[in-house]
Amino acid sequence: MTMESSLIETASFDCMPSHVAIIMDGNGRWAKKRKKNRIFGHRRGAQVMENIIAHAAKSGVRYLTLYGFSKENWHRPPTEVRELMVMMRFYLAHKIADIHAQNLRLIVIGARADFDADIIKLIDEAENLTRNNSGMTLVMALSYGGKQDILRALQNLSEDLVAGRMCAEALTTDMLAKKLDTGGIPDPDLMIRTSGEYRLSNFLLFQLAYTELYFTDTLWPDFDAQALDQAFLEYAKRHRRYGGLALPQRAKA
Ligand code: IPE
Ligand code: IPE
Ligand code: MG
Repeated sequence: MTMESSLIETASFDCMPSHVAIIMDGNGRWAKKRKKNRIFGHRRGAQVMENIIAHAAKSGVRYLTLYGFSKENWHRPPTEVRELMVMMRFYLAHKIADIHAQNLRLIVIGARADFDADIIKLIDEAENLTRNNSGMTLVMALSYGGKQDILRALQNLSEDLVAGRMCAEALTTDMLAKKLDTGGIPDPDLMIRTSGEYRLSNFLLFQLAYTELYFTDTLWPDFDAQALDQAFLEYAKRHRRYGGLALPQRAKA
């Protein structure tokens, strides 16, 4: 056993992130490097996504949130959007059986109403099929935007305010969190972004307040189980303080 793999085993036993969120970025550049069109990169990216889902579940991650399509991605050329929708249909219709067989629960967050009716139906069916599964929760962010998520939550709360069921002063951050698309799901412990971009691109803006951020130059289609283990290893070295002071070193058992 190498030093690195033994470290990873220690990390997976002691300091694994319970909720991992990933911005799966770099498909287009990966394809361009190979003189292929962007959709070639998206197809490879989707295969990688399947491997990463399985590896995260096997590693003991309880929640995996994947940014699959942003609210702003609708502004891409119609041909690319159309191809991405074809892929979404394919995965929701034909790959959901694999997700179910792995005992994973699928939850889709984002502006579901933006999609065509048949995709909305497939999403609803996929969620229903996997609703009672007890394994890792897979949260797919589709037509998702963090700003829009916060806005929807506020609109929801303002109904109670206007109806006089609640006063503005009584509002808490926990109440707002519950109304977000991720209501009931703990905030991510670790957020990974691939492809060497150092921004959030409207992902989980509220939920990432105290998340550990990990950036790698690896393009998403090159990301693999080992690369995910590397991120877990880095996470295990972080000291989360939440604005307080570092805890004294825990005594070894
Ligand atoms: C991420 O890869 C996938 C989606 C946004 C759908 P990109 O398509 O953004 O790839 P790059 O960033 O152009 O390389
Ligand atoms: C973020 O990546 C969205 C997804 C990975 C689904 P983008 O490629 O859309 O982000 P920007 O445009 O580089 O900020
Ligand atoms: Mg990109």
